[in-house]
Amino acid sequence: MTEPTLILRDFAIYKGWLNPQMQADLVTDLRDVVAQAPLLRPVTPSGKAMSVRMTSAGRYGWISDRGGYRYARQHPQGMGWPAIPAPVLEIWQALVSDVRMPDCCLINFYAPGARMGMHQDRDEADFNWPVLSVSLGDDALFRIGTLARGGKTESLWLNSGDVVVMGGAARLAYHGVDRIRPGSSSLLRGGGRINLTCRVVE
Ligand code: SIN
Ligand code: FE2
Repeated sequence: MTEPTLILRDFAIYKGWLNPQMQADLVTDLRDVVAQAPLLRPVTPSGKAMSVRMTSAGRYGWISDRGGYRYARQHPQGMGWPAIPAPVLEIWQALVSDVRMPDCCLINFYAPGARMGMHQDRDEADFNWPVLSVSLGDDALFRIGTLARGGKTESLWLNSGDVVVMGGAARLAYHGVDRIRPGSSSLLRGGGRINLTCRVVE
């Protein structure tokens, strides 16, 4: 297996895993997904609007509303989720598993000013499967914590084309995105950042 560029608290970081052409091709595929299953701005269970816009691909999508955080078979507007683009599955096969494919690829779009508060990914049935994260577009300041809310944190910048595998002790570690650096990438017309997170759900 390929070695990560660096490991920070069990988060395995593969800098520049996707070259610029691969990034551009993936964005083309993601435009198709978003055309079929529009990006929406979810609210948290307490009713607060998130700053990130979201949609999903795969058998399941991850949603949030007044009813809670959960996986759903359908987009909130009623359509099924599009298939996970092949290039995403190729990254998964190279870095996670060629036996089991992810059930969900959550697509997060960060416009300038968007952020993601510290949280754990814990709506899945089996935490032995890592979460795979792909960054596209503007740089993001990614914050890594511990297994406990409010634990000591450290941050690093994720750039377009970077891939992170959150497995082992990182699987349930708190993490979030403090901010993006608007204008740092020309990958996305109109700017911003896309983050993909792939998970085995059930
Ligand atoms: C997330 O943890 O849901 C997003 C991580 C990221 O945007 O890099
Ligand atoms: Fe997360």
